[in-house]
Amino acid sequence: MKKSGKAVSSKTSATAPRIAVAIMAAGKGTRLKSQLPKVLHEVGGKPLLAHVIAAATRVVPPADIFAIIGHDADRVRAAVAHTGVNFVLQSEQRGTGHALMVAREPLTDYDHVIVLSGDAPQITPQTIARLLNFHLDEQATMTLLSADLDQPTGYGRVVRRSARSAEVQAVVEEKSASPVQKKVTEINAGFYVFSVPQLFSHIEKLSTANPHAEYYLTDMAAVLRRAKQPVVVWKTKNSQEVLGANTRAELAVLDQQMRMTKCLQLMAEGVTIFYPAMCVIDADVEIAPDTVIEPFVQILGRSRIGSGCRIRSYSVIRDSEIGAGVFIRPGCILEEARIGPNAILGPYSHLRSGSDIGEGAHVGNFVETKKIKLGKGSKANHLTYLGNAEIGAGVNIGAGTITCNYDGVHKHTTIIEDDVFIGSDSTLVAPVRVGKGAYVAAASCITSDVPADGLALGRAQQIVKQGWASARRAARKPK
Ligand code: UD1
Ligand code: CA
Repeated sequence: MKKSGKAVSSKTSATAPRIAVAIMAAGKGTRLKSQLPKVLHEVGGKPLLAHVIAAATRVVPPADIFAIIGHDADRVRAAVAHTGVNFVLQSEQRGTGHALMVAREPLTDYDHVIVLSGDAPQITPQTIARLLNFHLDEQATMTLLSADLDQPTGYGRVVRRSARSAEVQAVVEEKSASPVQKKVTEINAGFYVFSVPQLFSHIEKLSTANPHAEYYLTDMAAVLRRAKQPVVVWKTKNSQEVLGANTRAELAVLDQQMRMTKCLQLMAEGVTIFYPAMCVIDADVEIAPDTVIEPFVQILGRSRIGSGCRIRSYSVIRDSEIGAGVFIRPGCILEEARIGPNAILGPYSHLRSGSDIGEGAHVGNFVETKKIKLGKGSKANHLTYLGNAEIGAGVNIGAGTITCNYDGVHKHTTIIEDDVFIGSDSTLVAPVRVGKGAYVAAASCITSDVPADGLALGRAQQIVKQGWASARRAARKPK
């Protein structure tokens, strides 16, 4: 017997019904006018479909989830394969009812199926579980999720048998609705629970006699009603979570709402965010308490930020791990970087992938790093490029230092041991090693190893010509 998940109502758990989730995600999304399939458009930093899968996997295990894909199916599959859900191919998209018809075979192993729309990303596991429990408690054949919307245009409307009754007469799509039905503000959210045997013994009764010539899953309400089956509706008070994204404008609204939800959640956990509407923080970002986020900061992907940090304006941080007490001055860009506790970055530092900055280290103005380790307390404060370098603790990297790591074919490593002092405007031609405690004189070009505690002077000797300038000026004077 399949696991039914925690969501199942206590009233019915004695019989432990087998519960599947089907996510309808095969549509093209014509209204987005995009090469990218609709469910891969992102809000809150993640594809629409990934949000729906994340909610579903908190109700049933991925093995019981079936994503129905069709338009650009390979691309959709590749984008969410890591979640471990199953895929069902709907190669021709002939409507939401047709999507369920093609999923018939894998679903026959189950008693009930929760049907989710892949383009409505704010649905919560709590609401899915409540909808399921209502369905089981009511012993319904079909249960719809509804919500009241001030602007219901575009959605299917729920026609109840009577105002007080949970029983549903029909769902009327916008295009087929009468003027009176169009005034109904209770909309069909596109989330359902069906009894699997009843769904499939009646689904063949769907027809394509509608303006889109499609099989509408919503018509199952009237079909099952006519067959004297119980069809009920459960209304959520949180109408925000049912909003779908059919247009770019709706995507923008959803994105804004999800990011605000994320900021509110972080603030509730003890993070200070000034002007939250002006920050872009992705859904999976983690930030510890007492960190301060200033306006116009973007924190993206799987970034994790420790406690007591301050991130000043205009920094963009992606997939990075930042320790406690780090101070990031304005305008820094971090990609796949690791920053140790109490480090100081910026302004305008660019830390590219593989940058590993040690505890209390400083990376300053216009410094670019890539694939480097900068040891504890080391400093590279001004105008520097450090790539493919292993730099120890207590090192001072002078302004304008460059590691010449690339010979046009291969990358080479620069090793700088503890307590080294690199004078300003030095070039270190890799592969090269500067031994512990050594000095490199300013403006040196270092092409061979420097021994520990030594001094390397890698520059041409200065020549001075006394009186040269005044002689030149005299020579240029007009006669
Ligand atoms: C649908 C409902 C509408 C409801 C709204 C809520 C129908 C007929 N209408 O309208 O009552 O108010 O959702 O958001 O169901 N899909 C497939 N295969 C298909 C067609 C669609 O998998 O053949 C998928 C789409 O990718 C999408 C979902 O089903 O994720 C809903 O389809 P969509 O075309 O967006 O339906 P709506 O017009 O929004
Ligand atoms: Ca939709």
